[in-house]
Amino acid sequence: MTTTTSTTSATTDSGPTAVGRTATRPAAAGTDDGRAHEGLAGVHLTAGGVSLLLDVADGRLPAVVHWGAALGRVSAPEARALTAADVHAVVPNEVDVPVRLALLPEHHTGWVGRPGLSGSRQGRDWSPLFEVDELRVAAAAGAPEPERDGDLLTTGAARLVVTARDRVAALTLRLEVELAEGGLVRLRGALVNDGDEDYDLQELSLALPVPGRGREILDQAGRWGRERVPQRRPVVVGSHLREGRKGRTGSDAPTVLSVVVPGTGFERGEAWGLHVGFSGDHRSWVEKTSGGLQVVGGGELLLPGEVRLASGESYEGPWLYASWGDGLDEQAGRFHHWLRARPQHPTSPRPVTLNVWEAVYFDHDLARLVDLADRAAALGVERFVLDDGWFRGRRDDTAGLGDWVVDADVWPDGLGPIVDHVTGLGMEFGLWFEPEMVNEDSDLARAHPEWILQTGGRLPVRSRNQQVLDLGRPEAFEHVLGQMTAVLSAHDIAYVKWDHNRDLVDAGTVGGVPGVHRQTLATYRLMDELRRRFPGLEIESCSSGGSRVDLGVLERTDRVWVSDCIDPLDRQQMMRWTEQLLPPELLGSHVASGRSHTTHRLHDLSFRAGTAVFGHFGIEWDLRLATDAESDELRAWIAFHKEHRELLHTGTVVRVDEHDPSLWVHGVVATDRSAAVVALAYVDRSDVSPRGRFTLRGLDPERRYVVDPVTIGGPVRDAATLPWAGGTFSGRSLAVTGLQAPVSMPEQVQLLTVRAVD
Ligand code: DGJ
Repeated sequence: MTTTTSTTSATTDSGPTAVGRTATRPAAAGTDDGRAHEGLAGVHLTAGGVSLLLDVADGRLPAVVHWGAALGRVSAPEARALTAADVHAVVPNEVDVPVRLALLPEHHTGWVGRPGLSGSRQGRDWSPLFEVDELRVAAAAGAPEPERDGDLLTTGAARLVVTARDRVAALTLRLEVELAEGGLVRLRGALVNDGDEDYDLQELSLALPVPGRGREILDQAGRWGRERVPQRRPVVVGSHLREGRKGRTGSDAPTVLSVVVPGTGFERGEAWGLHVGFSGDHRSWVEKTSGGLQVVGGGELLLPGEVRLASGESYEGPWLYASWGDGLDEQAGRFHHWLRARPQHPTSPRPVTLNVWEAVYFDHDLARLVDLADRAAALGVERFVLDDGWFRGRRDDTAGLGDWVVDADVWPDGLGPIVDHVTGLGMEFGLWFEPEMVNEDSDLARAHPEWILQTGGRLPVRSRNQQVLDLGRPEAFEHVLGQMTAVLSAHDIAYVKWDHNRDLVDAGTVGGVPGVHRQTLATYRLMDELRRRFPGLEIESCSSGGSRVDLGVLERTDRVWVSDCIDPLDRQQMMRWTEQLLPPELLGSHVASGRSHTTHRLHDLSFRAGTAVFGHFGIEWDLRLATDAESDELRAWIAFHKEHRELLHTGTVVRVDEHDPSLWVHGVVATDRSAAVVALAYVDRSDVSPRGRFTLRGLDPERRYVVDPVTIGGPVRDAATLPWAGGTFSGRSLAVTGLQAPVSMPEQVQLLTVRAVD
């Protein structure tokens, strides 16, 4: 989410309204709004197998006529007919005109569900009626120019910008809708206060209607150490409302909130999903009214008084991402396609990483860390990350946050010796920060207790012994920026692990008024500024594990830490569902010690590594405790990952809907379908043995493939004697006939490589 001009409250000390002051329109600077069009009744955006047909007739806000499978060529009369066919019947005891549901649902139409805009000037101007002043369309780079047919405009990937006004309420609304080449829809709204009096904005959300055949809701929940757990329930009249009030995305975030046709799985079944690309408080919902309409919507969740627009000021909401797919794989694929097409998407091979957290925790000792680095380099590790514990007073988790200077007691010669040693071994060096946080036991808090986010004349309840630093205050922002800049300038540091280990509670800024909104924007600015100062610096978004996984933070970060739970059994499920939004190369995915520090379960190295190998691979294990045999096996897994990471990190994610819930089959197929890496993950014991055949989807039906079990660490029990190992099969027979699943103990994984031979 961006603001529009340099005048934001985060650079003054005047209050929490992090908004832009703008004369006429709240456009993000430098965006191409394309050509203005007049007299249109419809706009048909179609790309990547998706159509978004919008009714824009009569100067009204755009309303979705169709969002889903591509419609092919649509003529102007057909578009008008489709629009007419979508008009809701007037039924007794409802308003006398059909309710028209725009992207910003408007109460004045008779829509009695959640309105898109909530706000007022002391009770006035709360139910606006917007009339479109201007509609502009710009084709995406490389896409064909829009074609006009009477009152219909047809485009490929494109961006539509609508500016609308309510002159009575003195408000200007700007809506942006984009369809990307891969079929992902992005939309956001912005509001300008054209009046003389302040406008108290409570909510600016957008919603997309979804067809009634979508009768189930599928989203995600979770908790610390067990993020992104799917949950399903029927759509009923009323709302399924997910509110994130934690000041961060949250381990329980819905991630992708979908309405699905019953029976939808990874392979097939329509799914209309929404993701709010924002790392602060947010809201998304599915709502069905007794009038038979149902929507999926979302936006930022604003706290009381958090955004009060003075005359001429604007607020711009976060991007919402909407993905339709026939099957959850297709829905996920549209997110992956969009992310991979971004200029900042990491394209270099993702360096195999060693993070020292679970190896040493706060026990920093140069000799021990040098030893770890030597062992890591010898195994083929490419990046070494020094985690929490390096800065002043940080001997445990009760002190030190906020003082981003090297602890001279533990590091008498500074970080130079470890950085030089690591880089001398040919590895990159990464360093942990938690820039938004402060311990009361820190020099910073002692000097500036007022910089702690707080309200009511008291400090918030502690969480992990810490408080949150008010980055919306320019002095606090400059303090952190300055200290981080000093550390990053002093050393050759390629990577920052950016942590955030508590929810925001009672997060009041200057005057005690809510500060979550401006804190979130300040964090984004801090990340942006550090990236500007240190080009090429990579940032990992970590937050008590995977509590900040969203497309807002991913505009300025290069991977996420999926979870603090590295137990491979849990990771199988977290990878599976985090991939609903993110492609594997963005998922920090490590091999930990045999006994999981989080669950205390014990797992073979082959299960740990065979699980982690799909993501941005790494190690989080005290390698001094690994036996020689384990080190040799780990070296082989690292080599395997390096051999296949280009495929794994560019290919298409496939998750197979297996008949046996104890066996999860998933993999990645090369974009040219010449090869694949597949996992048979035995996540439980089965009621039957053997389990029968599994299938592999996504290969070219006409080509023939050799399928080989990967035998690093020894195959699962009978894989060595598999009758089909090394056999040649067509892509079609692998998809529809399949192969007998090897018999295995539970909590094991058998990887397969699949290679086209013609
Ligand atoms: C939480 C993170 O998820 C861990 O990986 C680790 O960095 C700790 N914080 C350090 O305090």
